[in-house]
Amino acid sequence: MKKQVLTGIKPTGRIHLGNYIGAIKPALKLAENDFYNTAYFVADYHGLTKIHDQAEMKELTYGVAAAWLALGLDPDRAIFYRQSDIPEIFELSWILACFAPKGLLNRAHAYKSIAEENHKMGREADAGVNMGVFTYPILMAADILLFQTELVPVGKDQIQHVEIARDLAEYFNNQYGETFVLPDYIIEEETAVLPGLDGRKMSKSYNNTIPLFEQPKKLQKLINKIKTDSSPPEEPKNPESSIIFSLYREFATPEQVEEMRKRYQRGIGWGQAKKELFEVMNSFIEEPRAQYETLMASPEKLDAILKEGAAKARKKAIPFMTEIKTKIGIFH
Ligand code: TRP
Repeated sequence: MKKQVLTGIKPTGRIHLGNYIGAIKPALKLAENDFYNTAYFVADYHGLTKIHDQAEMKELTYGVAAAWLALGLDPDRAIFYRQSDIPEIFELSWILACFAPKGLLNRAHAYKSIAEENHKMGREADAGVNMGVFTYPILMAADILLFQTELVPVGKDQIQHVEIARDLAEYFNNQYGETFVLPDYIIEEETAVLPGLDGRKMSKSYNNTIPLFEQPKKLQKLINKIKTDSSPPEEPKNPESSIIFSLYREFATPEQVEEMRKRYQRGIGWGQAKKELFEVMNSFIEEPRAQYETLMASPEKLDAILKEGAAKARKKAIPFMTEIKTKIGIFH
C-alpha cells in the first residue's frame, strides 16, 4: 500500500526561500516517489485567521498556488487543491471540535505564546485572539485526518499540531472503532535553520525573508542587506558562520560550494561573496520566476487546476465523510 502524504501552506505572506527549501522542495521530492500518494493544498481558511483583506487574500492564495506549480508540482501526480473548495474539511472540523478538550488547545504553542505575551504586557489574556486562531489546530487536524494521512512533512513549529491531530484521531477511534489513520510528521532536519537576512531563522514573522520570485534588482538589493562584519577582504573567514555561505550552499553545485569554502579560508570580500550568491540564486530562480509570473497573470488557469484537484480530493472525502457521519449516528 502506498503511504498517504499531505501538507498545506497558508497564504499569509509571499512565498520565500525558507518556504521553498524547508517545505516545498522536500514535498516535491516525495511527490516524485512512487511509494507515496501526495496531497498538497493552499490552506486559505487557515490564512483567514490573519488576513482580513479581500484583495490580499486573493493575491496571496494565488501566489501560493502559482509557487507550487512554478517550482515543479505536477497536478497529475499530486492531488493539488484549495482547502476552501472541500466543504467536508469544515464538516469534519466541527466533529473533531466536539472531541477536542479545551485544555489541549489552551496548551497549543501558537495560542499560548499570544496569551503569554498578553500577560507580560499587562493585557487581558485573550486580547487579539480570534476563535480561528484558537481552533486552528482542529481545522488542521481535519485537513490531515480527512485524507487518512500517514505522513505530514512540516517545519518544527508544526509538530505539536500534528500531535494534536493524532490525539483527536485516537479519541474518535476509541469511541467509535478504527476510523482514522494516526498521522506522523516528517521534519527536514538540515534545512530547518535556513537563515534570514538578519541571521535568525528566515520567517515571515521576523520580516527577514527573501521572497522567492523577487525581480533580479530587488533580489540583489536584499542580498546586499545581509548583515556582515567589518573584516577586510583579505582576512580569512569562517564559511560555517556566514549567512551568505549558508544560502550559497543551497543553490550552488557541490564543486562551487567547495571552491567557495576555499575562497572564504583564503579571504574574500563580502561584496564579492554577495555578488556570487546573487548569481547562483538568480540563475536558479530565473525559470520558475518566469513561470510564476505567467501563472499569476492567468488566475483562471490556476482556478481550473485547483478545481480539478478539489474534485479528485472530494472523490475520497465524500464517501469517507459518510462513513464518519454514520458512525456518530448522524447520517440518515
Ligand atoms: N499550519 C501549517 C503552517 O502554518 C499549514 C497547514 C494547514 C498544514 N493545514 C495543514 C500543514 C495540514 C500540514 C498539514 O505551516
